[in-house]
Amino acid sequence: MSRIIFNLAKNTALAALSRGALLLTARMLALLLASAGAGTVLAQQASVPNAGGVAVANAATGADAFFDELGGRAGIDRIVDRFLQIVLQDSRIKSQFQEIDSVRLKEKLAEQFCQLSGGPCQYSGKSMELIHEGLRITQAQFNALTEDLQLAMEQQSIAPRIQNKLVARLAPMSRAIIGK
Ligand code: HEM
Repeated sequence: MSRIIFNLAKNTALAALSRGALLLTARMLALLLASAGAGTVLAQQASVPNAGGVAVANAATGADAFFDELGGRAGIDRIVDRFLQIVLQDSRIKSQFQEIDSVRLKEKLAEQFCQLSGGPCQYSGKSMELIHEGLRITQAQFNALTEDLQLAMEQQSIAPRIQNKLVARLAPMSRAIIGK
């Protein structure tokens, strides 16, 4: 009897854990992946080069479906537009974006998100190391930007699961971006 109760308690705890995992915020996910080495995302880096340093194979991973789940290129453009509006109003990070070419930034970000989600695009911007060099970006600023992206997706009615997927693919880039 006590064994049955123990098993029941164990299963309930496991179920709670997996529910908890689903409720991870994008920020937690980003932090977790950044600190844990982002195994699966990094493991995918071999075949499609250069979405700014991180690349993702697409044929075998269902990434094309992911691109559609973001609303295709038009959806990604809407997300990036909203994302930059939010970033430019965010007192935690807007000072970093004083003298930028926002038309170019929008275009390169959209290309990057398109490629990362398996869409028919090729990122043509600079490497993440090069473009962020000298900005001395902190982990807190990186997290703030991630939250802004999440908010932009939320406002475009992108499901949390899809939000988390994009954030997870961006998370490994933190190494190339923070503290340069
Ligand atoms: C995963 C996170 C990030 C991604 C994917 C990302 C991506 C990009 C891309 C694609 C560009 C344009 C590259 C080009 O023009 O060739 C860019 C530029 C820039 N990023 Fe980021 N970025 C990230 C995080 C951050 C953070 C946290 C900050 C500051 C708080 C930041 C500040 C900037 C600035 C200021 C530029 C413009 C630099 C220039 O034009 O000289 N980025 N980023």
